Amino acid sequence: MKVYRDADIDTAVLKDRLVAIIGYGNQGHAHALNLRDSGCRVIVGARENSPSGARAREAGFEVVSYGEAAARGDVVMVSLPDEHIPDVYAAEIAERLRSGTALGFAHGLAVHFGHVVPDAGLDVFLIGPKGAGRWLRAEYEAGRGLACLYAVHQDATGEARAIALAYAAGLGCGRAGIVETSFAEECVSDLFGEQAVLCGGIPALIEAGYRTLVEAGISPEMAYFECLHEAKLIVDLMFEGGPAYMRRAISTTAEYGGYLAGERLVTEETRQEMRRILDDVVSGAFAARLIADTRAGGPELARLRQGQDADIEPVGARIRALMPWLAPKLPDS
Ligand SMILES: NC(=O)c1ccc[n+]([C@@H]2O[C@H](COP(=O)([O-])OP(=O)(O)OC[C@H]3O[C@@H](n4cnc5c(N)ncnc54)[C@H](OP(=O)(O)O)[C@@H]3O)[C@@H](O)[C@H]2O)c1
Repeated sequence: MKVYRDADIDTAVLKDRLVAIIGYGNQGHAHALNLRDSGCRVIVGARENSPSGARAREAGFEVVSYGEAAARGDVVMVSLPDEHIPDVYAAEIAERLRSGTALGFAHGLAVHFGHVVPDAGLDVFLIGPKGAGRWLRAEYEAGRGLACLYAVHQDATGEARAIALAYAAGLGCGRAGIVETSFAEECVSDLFGEQAVLCGGIPALIEAGYRTLVEAGISPEMAYFECLHEAKLIVDLMFEGGPAYMRRAISTTAEYGGYLAGERLVTEETRQEMRRILDDVVSGAFAARLIADTRAGGPELARLRQGQDADIEPVGARIRALMPWLAPKLPDS
């Protein structure tokens, strides 16, 4: 694994380049603020009457249309929802980019699966911070940084790598680590991880555990504490020191029972299903389905949202109200 840090990077390559951040959402706002505080000249692209554009203006940025940002930026970061990138890129960005522009993405989906095919005269890079934008910003403000992934898809000018690394350093990621990868590896691992483990596996397991207890007559509050509230403790322990560290920190009863139940829950069948989820990611079938659903107005997403178990939500609100300091609300970013 190749990891770059600030000392390995010459940030002068950004000195005379205008950075245009297209989209001022979760990632975009942190990129714009961190790069500006690192001494870069930054403008923000927003659509008309955009709420996030208004926030960018309040933060003191010059805010222009997506097309103008694409045309003026020497470095153009596309920080929009992945499912909308292909159509916005085709309609507003592609034709406005100048040859030699460095075009950046924070995730590889649109490019890797061929939904965006950048012109051959562009540099194309990826900087994927390993966490949400507010965390990227908070770490930067604290004088630290968040690690990120970096990849180059296309190097038309011979400067793509230098620009991408300087961009990542401007985000503060060089204070932690800038890990070299490819669009393919970033894309596949990110999508698989969020589906099989983070956003698919973990919530499904928590909700199924909660439902099993409630159906067996346990009170919803008890079930919530056991299956959701305490998940934070376990994840925090693994984050701090890995699974073995977590197991040393819990009781022997919990450790022993955990081994037995884990083997029963993650069976060969589960592993087979994980491989099928991975196949759908690698083949591009998932990305195509996401983009097709978005273009159709999101009927499948709406159906999936409807199908979620809503009973757990009011219980969670009651439990969180007991200890509001443990679950502070996210600032609107
Ligand atoms: N979220 C994360 O933690 C994270 C982490 C690493 C990488 N990434 C990557 O970063 C990129 C940006 O993700 P994000 O989470 O920052 O996105 P996001 O917060 O959902 O992006 C919101 C921005 O996109 C604009 N936007 C929303 N829908 C649009 C549409 N249909 N057409 C045009 N503009 C639209 C919004 O403008 P308005 O204000 O006008 O609605 C806003 O400026 C993605 O490639 C993502 O995979 C995200």
